[in-house]
Amino acid sequence: MTAVRVAVLASGGGTNLQALLDALTDSPLARVARVITNRPDAGAVQRARQSGVATTVLRDPTDTAELLAALDATPGAELVVLAGYLKLVPSAVVARFRWRMINIHPALLPAHGGPGMYGRRVHEAVLASGAAESGATVHYVDEQYDRGPIIAQARVPVRPDDTPETLAARVLEVEHELLPRVVLELARRGMPNEPVRIA
Ligand code: GRF
Repeated sequence: MTAVRVAVLASGGGTNLQALLDALTDSPLARVARVITNRPDAGAVQRARQSGVATTVLRDPTDTAELLAALDATPGAELVVLAGYLKLVPSAVVARFRWRMINIHPALLPAHGGPGMYGRRVHEAVLASGAAESGATVHYVDEQYDRGPIIAQARVPVRPDDTPETLAARVLEVEHELLPRVVLELARRGMPNEPVRIA
């Protein structure tokens, strides 16, 4: 069995990418084969280069052909992971990678997701809602932001004295455990071609 080739799309600092790079080092199940970004200055690009992983900087993230070419570049991706990718993936790319494209979101979907819900705003919304818990969700990507079937979640408590920053840090910690766990489990199951839910 050869390792599942994972392409990671990232726009930001790339701590989730780093968690994947670390967890997949020496794994026979999966490996990060390429990092694709819309921002040449993204920390994620730096992290990829430090690990000797190929990178692609998109000139136009709305260009379906450009993104497909990056995903198909040797070696072609079998699983696509959105890890802090802030652009909408063109629907033809979503369709091509149906049940093989996943996203991580820093809240317990279906709450606190959707267009414009990223970064600090997510944690502000959780605090404003008075929820006792937050967490991280890994879900399949479909044509709408944060709406595809949920694969797995990790929960954290919301504390009375939390700020968006303290809550974000607590959630990020569980993201770093959750994302590699899901990627490795999907790879272990041979990249199922229908949605799965992982406990
Ligand atoms: C994470 O909170 C992730 O859930 C969200 O964007 C953030 C990315 O952080 N989609 P990083 O770039 O992985 O550090």
